[in-house]
Amino acid sequence: MTQLTSTDLFSPVHLGPYILPNRIVMAPMTRNRAGAGNAPTPINATYYAQRATAGLIVSEGSQVSPQGFGYPATPGIHSPEQIAGWQLVTDAVHNAGGRIFLQLWHTGRISHPSLQPDGALPVAPSAIAPAGNAMTYTGNQPFVTPRALETEEIPDVVDQFRQGAKNALAAGFDGVEIHGAFGYLIDQFLQDGTNQRSDMYGGSIKNRARFLLEVVEAVTDVWGANRVGIKLSPSNTFNDIHDSDPKATFSYAIAALNSFELGYLHLMEPTPADIRHGGKPIPVSEFRPLYAYTLIANGGYDREKGNAAIANGDADLVSFGALFLANPDLPERLRLNTALNEPDRNTFYGGDEKGYTDYPFLYPTTIIH
Ligand SMILES: Cc1cc2nc3c(=O)[nH]c(=O)nc-3n(C[C@H](O)[C@H](O)[C@H](O)COP(=O)(O)O)c2cc1C
Repeated sequence: MTQLTSTDLFSPVHLGPYILPNRIVMAPMTRNRAGAGNAPTPINATYYAQRATAGLIVSEGSQVSPQGFGYPATPGIHSPEQIAGWQLVTDAVHNAGGRIFLQLWHTGRISHPSLQPDGALPVAPSAIAPAGNAMTYTGNQPFVTPRALETEEIPDVVDQFRQGAKNALAAGFDGVEIHGAFGYLIDQFLQDGTNQRSDMYGGSIKNRARFLLEVVEAVTDVWGANRVGIKLSPSNTFNDIHDSDPKATFSYAIAALNSFELGYLHLMEPTPADIRHGGKPIPVSEFRPLYAYTLIANGGYDREKGNAAIANGDADLVSFGALFLANPDLPERLRLNTALNEPDRNTFYGGDEKGYTDYPFLYPTTIIH
């Protein structure tokens, strides 16, 4: 689709069926503040509504099934209570004039038996344990070796995403983003460091991308392609993910996504941590020529870098994580080019309203309660 003529973060843009008032997206951020039954509560609704001046909000990752659960107090999208909880959030964001997509998540091997139904092993493409620790209700515990999914089970896992997509529709979202990034299940299938299967889901790049494309197919069946986005992180090393040739793997996946004409592709830049951990950093600009539709760039952006990426065509929109977490009125602050609140890392994951709904607005009158 031809994008509305403009060259900066503060101009309207088409995204699927929507015209967004600006190109500033709130990136998905896990905050571990879901209530009983991993259902969102009114405080979560307040947090998102405070940020409704974003062109688009993408919610924190939300597990599509009990099997997809990987961290304490993350919200799900698989029970009636969770759908009702999310409805509080979508109503609050819409009442505040915003738009919100739900991020559909399955953590795969980045889980722990204490978080799984009946204490089962987490599932993955191959039985390879990640290095590091799982976050559990009793603190950090070493990751276990996951159970490799049987070929016959994989359609059921795709159906978990399909059901999550249906539930997101019922909860009043404006669209969904498939979490294909950061070493979670979809990424585990895609990259050869975690996928050593010998069936139709492993081996060649085409086979490793099959699960991702089947999930996209299932989710677009529910929503129509133009209200579906997908997030990929080609250079990421978090969660012990790696590939022998990320440029080739992600080039294939990104080119294959063109055929769906999705609402957007959300692509992450390499971070300093990825470079420290020996990843092969590939900037978003290298993938841009492969993708013909709306692209959201993410990772380490500020006002100047965001405007530059839009002006030179590397991105159509830019998403902001930590800065949006700490600045509920980020679009206004960026527009005025004014001071920003500092993100407090101690309150990122878990806790109460501190570091969640209490970041100050520039103009106190705009605070939404
Ligand atoms: C507290 C926190 C939680 C995050 N949780 C998620 C998540 O649930 N899903 C996801 O795709 N990315 C997640 N991310 C990554 C962000 O979406 C984004 O990619 C990252 O922060 C880089 O953008 P930034 O430099 O603007 O912060 C998280 C980041 C932060 C800071």
